[in-house]
Amino acid sequence: MEIIIQPNADAAASLVVKMVEQTVRQKPNATLGLATGRTMEVVYDKLADKHASEGLDFSGCSTFNLDEYIGLPAEDVNSYRYYMNELLFKQINIDLGNTYLPNGVAEDIDAECEVYEQRIAELGGIDFQLLGIGSTGHIGFNEPLSALRSRTRAKALTPETREQNAPMFDNDLNVVPKRAITMGVGTILDSYRCVLLATGKAKASIVAQATEGPVTSMISASALQLHPRCTIVVDEDAATELINTEYYRWIFANEPEWQEFQ
Ligand code: GLP
Repeated sequence: MEIIIQPNADAAASLVVKMVEQTVRQKPNATLGLATGRTMEVVYDKLADKHASEGLDFSGCSTFNLDEYIGLPAEDVNSYRYYMNELLFKQINIDLGNTYLPNGVAEDIDAECEVYEQRIAELGGIDFQLLGIGSTGHIGFNEPLSALRSRTRAKALTPETREQNAPMFDNDLNVVPKRAITMGVGTILDSYRCVLLATGKAKASIVAQATEGPVTSMISASALQLHPRCTIVVDEDAATELINTEYYRWIFANEPEWQEFQ
């Protein structure tokens, strides 16, 4: 794992966008794992810009999102399908038929989860998985005590997560879904590469616990310490509770892999 600290949220998102760009240019038929949440909005905005101004080509790519609320159909403005269509898919030249999210209104949720895993496997696995982090330490919707080897399944959301996401539902907690389908921690760990983006002071404590603390199912993001190729990108605000920052900064400034990202 490496931790890269950028001066502000915009620079952190730009760095993540460069990593996505590098992946897509090296492998035009890449399978991308995508995340939702407020942190990702600027990433998708910048990817749309790259497509519009530099012709970054997504026509050969496939995507799998981490999660979807159970009970929200694709047309619901709060569904993650709606979010992805509006913020990214309609803004780039990806074939909508190659964009996958779990179906939150599937009649048989277990079967839906199984098919989702099968589809990922059929496409050869996820080349690049983008991740955010929730205040409970979740990646996707893997709430505390998610098994470190879990696969795509239904998960109950914690009251804290429902509160964190309530602003998108006009702050009406009653309408925030109670369950979601999420890729498992094991599914995420199977990706070839993963990048977690966290910005802002509110994420500082959970980022430090997940990266410099012990691996524990209480904080699903800590499982990323087991991933062979994982990068955590943070801004200065989200880095305030990290201990070993001097070393992380040295790595980013000196390691050959990061020279093209300076
Ligand atoms: C949701 C998503 C997560 C995301 C998290 C963080 O709960 N399921 O994948 O990481 O939000 O959201 P934000 O970026 O808004 O803080």
